[in-house]
Amino acid sequence: MIPDMQGKVGFHYTIYNKQSLVETDKPVSFLVQDMLDLIEPNMSVVEINYIFVSPDLRRLGIAGNLIKKLQHRFAEDLIVVAAGAIKEEYSEEPVAEQYEDLLSNLDKFYTSLGFVSINTFVGYEDKIAYVWDNGRAMRVLAKECEAVALEIQHRHLLKLDAFGD
Ligand SMILES: CC(C)(COP(=O)(O)OP(=O)(O)OC[C@H]1O[C@@H](n2cnc3c(N)ncnc32)[C@H](O)[C@@H]1OP(=O)(O)O)[C@@H](O)C(=O)NCCC(=O)NCCS
Repeated sequence: MIPDMQGKVGFHYTIYNKQSLVETDKPVSFLVQDMLDLIEPNMSVVEINYIFVSPDLRRLGIAGNLIKKLQHRFAEDLIVVAAGAIKEEYSEEPVAEQYEDLLSNLDKFYTSLGFVSINTFVGYEDKIAYVWDNGRAMRVLAKECEAVALEIQHRHLLKLDAFGD
């Protein structure tokens, strides 16, 4: 059980830097490991472990505001999340259709906050990996990793299309 799931809102993130891989004996996600390989030495990777808002309080901007505060605090770093179902959300294992709905909603949520999917690079099957597209951090990633560069380019082309006509 996620520690503060009893409450109405739960939010947890972990901050890593290159040194933390050496110092920790706890398992670190593939996403964080990959990103730590790519970032500059003075940058951190901030992984959102989970974010939850109880159903009666959704679509009021609560989770969005928590993420925006995180973006403000770590404006020069790299914020990542492997977005997927959290068990506590379902009484039974979600069926494929529920799962697709969830991923589509999470996609709207994270892209509305400026995140870009880098799943083609990280390759999760039941989750989608996102990084926040925040200028500096993303330039570093794009320089080091062609797959990330292509995702960003694609996103900017979509934006240009949206404003095109
Ligand atoms: C995902 C979750 C945290 C969003 O919380 P929230 O407080 O409702 O999110 P916000 O109100 O800040 O939404 C911000 C924007 O994200 C998008 N969004 C959020 N939920 C959405 C949904 N269900 N469908 C479509 N778009 C959605 C919208 O663009 C929204 O802005 P808008 O309401 O002005 O259109 C919440 O739905 C939740 O707890 N889900 C279950 C737990 C979970 O799956 N957590 C993610 C684990 S990584």
